[in-house]
Amino acid sequence: LARGVTEPDLRGRHVVVSAGGTREPLDPVRFLGNRSSGKQGYALARTAAARGARVTLISANAGLPDPAGVDVVRVGTAVQLREAVLKAAADADAVVMAAAVADFRPAAYAAGKIKKKDGQDPEPIVLVRNPDILAEISADRARPGQVIVGFAAETDDVLANGRTKLARKGCDLLVVNEVGERKTFGAEENEAVVLGADGSETRVPHGPKEALADTVWDLVVRRLD
Ligand code: CTP
Ligand code: CA
Repeated sequence: LARGVTEPDLRGRHVVVSAGGTREPLDPVRFLGNRSSGKQGYALARTAAARGARVTLISANAGLPDPAGVDVVRVGTAVQLREAVLKAAADADAVVMAAAVADFRPAAYAAGKIKKKDGQDPEPIVLVRNPDILAEISADRARPGQVIVGFAAETDDVLANGRTKLARKGCDLLVVNEVGERKTFGAEENEAVVLGADGSETRVPHGPKEALADTVWDLVVRRLD
């Protein structure tokens, strides 16, 4: 698809995109979170809508305006994100997990604000694992032929780590962000490579998040047909 040309090649399709980063509460005023802005997921939602899709954007704590023509579902935690993704994925042609999901959450939630106690060391924070949403929806597809895409940021041995993660998750495509990897690619940090379960490898040069989003949809469309 040429840049700037919008073909309605997702018309009649329902796509689900998760975006942002989950927050795992400790008490009513504190949480464990991450720095995901949500911009890549929102770019995926916008570009899919521009290509004619019905889009459900599941947004975890992204401080961004709702994209026009997109159904936005707001969630906070990984457990809430899982519920929203499973619900929306039931009739989806494709699911793209661009959200940064907390791997762990505090084992306990304090209903009242945690207070300091004079002369006492703080209690350690005990964590438990969150569900792996991408692995779950990939292993148990809501629809035959549903295309599932994951995202990963890797530092060392990007391609090998990406291949291992793709196999472990069981998704169809994994967008691997080459964070800090210069040896293999010798280029800008924001480059990505999209690995396919079919062995394909699509390099996306440094550029705007819309360009990466359009490449992802190109690869999804090819697998839907
Ligand atoms: N993901 C998910 N549920 C989780 C963790 C991650 O659905 N509990 C999804 C993310 O949305 C992303 C992909 O899995 O699309 C890869 O996330 P990543 O954190 O790289 O994978 P992990 O399996 O958590 O591996 P790591 O130990 O490297 O963090
Ligand atoms: Ca993780």
